[in-house]
Amino acid sequence: MKPWPDNPFLQGYYEPLTAECTAPDLVIEGEIPQDLNGTFYRNGPNPQLPPENEYHFFTGDGMIHAFNFDDGRVSHMNRWARTARFKVEQEAGRSLFSGMNPLETPPEFLDFVLTDKEGVANTSVVYHGGKLLLLEEGHLPFRMDADSLESHGAWSFYGKLSTTMSAHPKIDPVNGDMLFHAYMTTGPFTDDMGIYRINRDGHMVESHALKAPYSAMVHDFVVTENYIIIPIMPITGSMDRAMAGQPPMAWEPDLPTMVGVMPREGTPDEIKWIEGDACYVFHYMNGWDRDGVINIEACHFKSPPLFPMVDGTPTPPNIDPVLARWTIDMKADNPRVNMDFLTDHGAEFPVIDPRYAMREYQHGWYTSTDKRIKAHIPDGDAVYNSIVHFDVKNQRSSTYAFPEGHVSEPMFVPRGPDAAEGEGYVLTCVYNLSTNTSDMCVFDAQSIADGPMGRAKVSHRVPVCFHGTWRPAGY
Ligand SMILES: [Fe+2]
Repeated sequence: MKPWPDNPFLQGYYEPLTAECTAPDLVIEGEIPQDLNGTFYRNGPNPQLPPENEYHFFTGDGMIHAFNFDDGRVSHMNRWARTARFKVEQEAGRSLFSGMNPLETPPEFLDFVLTDKEGVANTSVVYHGGKLLLLEEGHLPFRMDADSLESHGAWSFYGKLSTTMSAHPKIDPVNGDMLFHAYMTTGPFTDDMGIYRINRDGHMVESHALKAPYSAMVHDFVVTENYIIIPIMPITGSMDRAMAGQPPMAWEPDLPTMVGVMPREGTPDEIKWIEGDACYVFHYMNGWDRDGVINIEACHFKSPPLFPMVDGTPTPPNIDPVLARWTIDMKADNPRVNMDFLTDHGAEFPVIDPRYAMREYQHGWYTSTDKRIKAHIPDGDAVYNSIVHFDVKNQRSSTYAFPEGHVSEPMFVPRGPDAAEGEGYVLTCVYNLSTNTSDMCVFDAQSIADGPMGRAKVSHRVPVCFHGTWRPAGY
């Protein structure tokens, strides 16, 4: 194949793998706990072929990396999601669909792109109802065998889901329900959305259609014990812009943030739209409510990276989101979204103890950067080299920074079913810049500043991924 083109998202810590590997027993440095048993799946873009047109990081073919932990040993396996699009490009022997604007697809493939149900399956992954689902946000979920990583195609929850599914479903630890949202559900750049509930057995038991205040990229949402919260922020979508060759998705800071709040047992008729300052959040750490007041911890950008202004010029340089607490008093006559910053360091890819999802909680972990490693894209990219533990109740943080490592979104695993909140392990996949290899690192979740207790060493690179999930052994 041809060399990768000159694009920062195809170089260094992003450079795609060109192979699928199975490594049954990784070399361990230090100690991998014997009570850490299960599989950590990671998903991210890894184009199979060199893009021939404009390439955007969000459009690369999905690749799953599965790290299985078994009694102190760790294996690694990576496989592409063999989507319809992957197969069409494989047959053609060249890249056809690399850009963000579907209208720039070669004309003979435009119908395929506009009717494709599988997309690139490259953003996130969830294990629920006995199925491993790769998630993007512009298409249906994509199912893979959780053990062999064999591709099984689009998954519609037994024919019930006909729209897209977002990459950030929320699982209620009390009843096992999975809730998720979808946006642009009736076509590209529309303001139509959906809210869905899947029971613990994987069957859809609730679905709602709603209208957003404006067409926007809605990457994540929030669920608390009593509310479903749908924040709309102004990375807007526009078919008119797409048709005119302008950015189809662009930052419009003159529009406010509008947060939709719907009772968990309610319907879209009951949504209250509550205004806040323009900002962007890709990821929320958690949300909870008490006495009618909603609290949300959010990785809050004053303006988003990776998206242009409407006229195509770059957004103001601001690559670090900061942890903020949003509060909404639903008892107020005219509630507003109050936004208070909790830290002065960058915070992205947050995770919690999943047993405390939707509820008042104390512990979170996220990635951060001390900026000692130069990013490929000045003002548009950050090398996250730090893992942070944040005590939400006491607002204290502790950090471990890798001197030459790019960390992935962490994953928290409880030490056991009866462990206290936050007692367990934090896992992260670290790309080492000097060796071009990656380590799966395990921390004591309460002693992050001590550094990893153990590393399982992959003999090659695991490129930067987006999101992951944990499937406990025997689950
Ligand atoms: Fe995400």
